[in-house]
Amino acid sequence: MGFADYRVALVTGASSGIGTATVRRLRAEGLEVHAMARDADRLAQLAKATGCIPHALDVRATAEIAKLADSIEVDVLVNNAGQSRQGDVLTNSADDVDQLIDVNLRAILHLTRLFVPGMVKRNRGHVVTISSIAGHYAFPGGNTVYHATKAGVHSLSQQLRVHLYGSNVRVTEISPARVETEVFARLLGDAEEAQKRFYDGYESLKPEDIAESIAFAVGSPARMNVSFMEVLPTKQVVGGLNFARGSGSDQS
Ligand SMILES: NC(=O)c1ccc[n+]([C@@H]2O[C@H](COP(=O)([O-])OP(=O)(O)OC[C@H]3O[C@@H](n4cnc5c(N)ncnc54)[C@H](OP(=O)(O)O)[C@@H]3O)[C@@H](O)[C@H]2O)c1
Repeated sequence: MGFADYRVALVTGASSGIGTATVRRLRAEGLEVHAMARDADRLAQLAKATGCIPHALDVRATAEIAKLADSIEVDVLVNNAGQSRQGDVLTNSADDVDQLIDVNLRAILHLTRLFVPGMVKRNRGHVVTISSIAGHYAFPGGNTVYHATKAGVHSLSQQLRVHLYGSNVRVTEISPARVETEVFARLLGDAEEAQKRFYDGYESLKPEDIAESIAFAVGSPARMNVSFMEVLPTKQVVGGLNFARGSGSDQS
């Protein structure tokens, strides 16, 4: 397997950032690429530029996605759509919690349920999930619900691999650290502030770096499954140890 054996791809979250770069990269390999996101205008522009097939759909629209699953045979499923929210589980609204779970985790489970059986039947396919270093490490900044959903994506990727044992359906989890996309602009609701706080002065990854990582995994020979890839900017590290001074009684 590899690009020569795959014909059709579906990329979620295709209207910006990593998703757009992935659509472009997979189109460059000659795949028929179905691009899903909510923003119809941006998808139409991407379709014009790349020849991808746009689907202006919310990943939470399970019934409509089920209809799509009945009409196309997907070889490569890139579960990329995702959102983040300010605050943490102590301050988030009920809607914040529900939306993050619905978009970042529940939708991927449904997409898996709808598209992977066809891959198994054809004994050919590749599922790529975009988790995050937030799914593997705890670090400052709150975002507890986002961390929990991404840990769920990691667990799903691991268990799916076990479930598909013996078949030619491969599963690759890609866990990026900071990538220069719209994610923080959406988080803060202020693109300028996001640029200043998260990108200016840092050499972050570009969306194309993750698209290239996906292409490496998908293009690998049949005998090889890139099961997990953690991709960080060279100057970003994970890890660290926090130890607040004082005894329990000091803090009471
Ligand atoms: N950027 C980073 O530093 C970073 C690091 C680690 C992991 N990630 C992960 O990478 C993935 C891609 O994010 P990005 O950084 O490329 O951010 P982005 O530029 O904000 O792109 C997010 C994409 O997800 C789509 N999306 C959001 N909610 C959706 C919904 N309900 N239904 C359908 N599509 C939806 C958006 O499209 P519409 O608004 O048009 O629907 C957009 O195309 C996410 O899963 C994110 O958690 C990003």
